[in-house]
Amino acid sequence: MPAPVGFVRKLRALQRIVRPAGARAVALALLLKLAKKVAPELSMPRYRCAYPKHAQKSIDSIADFLAKHPLEEAAYFLSCVYAVLCDPTERRELAMYFTPPKLARHIIEGVQLQTSTFCEQRFLDPACGGAAFLLPVATILRDSLRKRGVPPRELVRIVNRQIAGVEKDATLAELCRQFIRIALADELTACRQELGEIVTIGDALECFTRKKLAPVNILLCNPPYRKISANELAWYRQRFPEVIAGQPNLYTMFMRAASGLVVPGGLIALLTPTSYFSGPTYERIRAHYTRHCGILRIDLIHERDNLFLGVEHDVAALLARRRLTPAPRQAPAVFAWNEVGGWASLGAVELPRDEGPWHLPRDVTSADALVKSKRQCASLQDYGYKARVGVYVWNRDKRRVRKARPKGRDRKIAVPVVWATHIGQDGRFRFVSRTHKEKRARFILLRPGDRRGVIERDCVLIQRTSSRAQRRRLVAAAPRRGFAKRHGGFVGENHIIILEPILDRPLVPRHMLTRLLNSEFIRDLYSTTTGTTAVTTAGLRALPLPDPRLLKELVGRRHSLKQAIRTAFGARTTNKHSNMDDAKATAP
Ligand SMILES: C[S@@+](CC[C@H](N)C(=O)[O-])C[C@H]1O[C@@H](n2cnc3c(N)ncnc32)[C@H](O)[C@@H]1O
Repeated sequence: MPAPVGFVRKLRALQRIVRPAGARAVALALLLKLAKKVAPELSMPRYRCAYPKHAQKSIDSIADFLAKHPLEEAAYFLSCVYAVLCDPTERRELAMYFTPPKLARHIIEGVQLQTSTFCEQRFLDPACGGAAFLLPVATILRDSLRKRGVPPRELVRIVNRQIAGVEKDATLAELCRQFIRIALADELTACRQELGEIVTIGDALECFTRKKLAPVNILLCNPPYRKISANELAWYRQRFPEVIAGQPNLYTMFMRAASGLVVPGGLIALLTPTSYFSGPTYERIRAHYTRHCGILRIDLIHERDNLFLGVEHDVAALLARRRLTPAPRQAPAVFAWNEVGGWASLGAVELPRDEGPWHLPRDVTSADALVKSKRQCASLQDYGYKARVGVYVWNRDKRRVRKARPKGRDRKIAVPVVWATHIGQDGRFRFVSRTHKEKRARFILLRPGDRRGVIERDCVLIQRTSSRAQRRRLVAAAPRRGFAKRHGGFVGENHIIILEPILDRPLVPRHMLTRLLNSEFIRDLYSTTTGTTAVTTAGLRALPLPDPRLLKELVGRRHSLKQAIRTAFGARTTNKHSNMDDAKATAP
């Protein structure tokens, strides 16, 4: 749900006037204005809302905007206002990015399908933010209880007993509780009974490890996500040793806690990045879930579909049921969000029952390809290439650098440095430096007897990082034939990956491999098998590729590369995204 342009403009204007210290005051002022408009009879707390006088107009205008929206949407936008006004470091630290109401409702509906007694269950969101999950759950409960004619006092008591949240940020915790109060305004005013605390302010992981949270039947959560820093690691390692490997992401600790916070048979619905689908860092959390839960459903949302304000990676909603014994089979139903068609079913996908990677399709086309690729697929190695990361790190490498190829004695020991920006988005390689940093180090002088990281053969180059702004995740290019030989080799900068031939004649020539990697189809498969925006050598090694001989033969028979990839993978009809295929980009 992209935010309406008008709202974003108002928010940006407010951000220019209000400092992070005023974020709470503005959020609470907006809350009071919203409550006054949608639930005028509800008594609200008296907050101290000190914000700059000249912010009044913007605040009034946002308040009008909020009042025009249904409560769940207003709550979402108000939480976003608060998060945007907060200090950006704090926002990142807590991951204040909220679940859009449409997605939260979809996740809750998935849960409803798994239980016939939804309204009798106890619910917990251990990172409840602006009530993205707790508010709709409270509304569903309220409506069902009203329908049954339950008196207001009893209704408030039931909501008190069945809904709980934890939130580290005190303002969000307050907003969350007040949004639920607004939803129950009629009952609260009719029975003059107050809603309980509902939301505990604090660190949910700490509460979990100290056993301060009672297990519930249904846990819903969009946990905070960020890399755990090196100095925090010891704390987490002590408390979550069974899921820590390497330097994991915070959300996996919440995943671990979630499985301990539901009773056996209880349901866990988690909206998280997809990075845990693959890679050694997440082996333990995958193993934990496949051993202790039945994975029922996975909804995939690709970052290009832009459902979240400010999120730059693929996310997935996982629905699992806690089990006391391992499930005999893990075959969740997989769905993918598509802006045009809504949720598309990709069928049931068999997952490994151990720590193995979860290879999930991205869309209908890659679903076919993936099924086939599981049975027969080739790897980069079968193609005759190995992947290695460029060794040159500009601020660490002590070797001397030059702006141009030197003359005289140094000429023989100078080799070019290839930077990520030399690999064009259009799939072409251009040895043209743009930034000061790159211009300063166009050439590096090798030390006697030290040819560390020097590439001497014709190869294919790939950018190692990518972002949402980038059209394609895999961006590959092949330097002109003889580039390495002519210069006596070259050194790759640390943000590129070099695919070097390991055979005298690789099965697939460089230009074909470049186009293959640049094709949207393979890019989608790459995302499917890795789930991160980063391009890694491990990800490239695990990338399923079509049979190289068949691919070459099909291209030789005048199939376009796009057709050849699909035929080689046995994929069926295309969808909107895959139609945009294919490497318009070409290599020299
Ligand atoms: C990704 S947001 C999701 C919020 C909300 N559940 C939603 O879906 O919109 C994560 C929330 O967790 C909160 N948070 C971060 N670390 C936390 C912790 N250790 N314990 C409890 N809440 C935390 C943040 O303040 C933020 O509101």
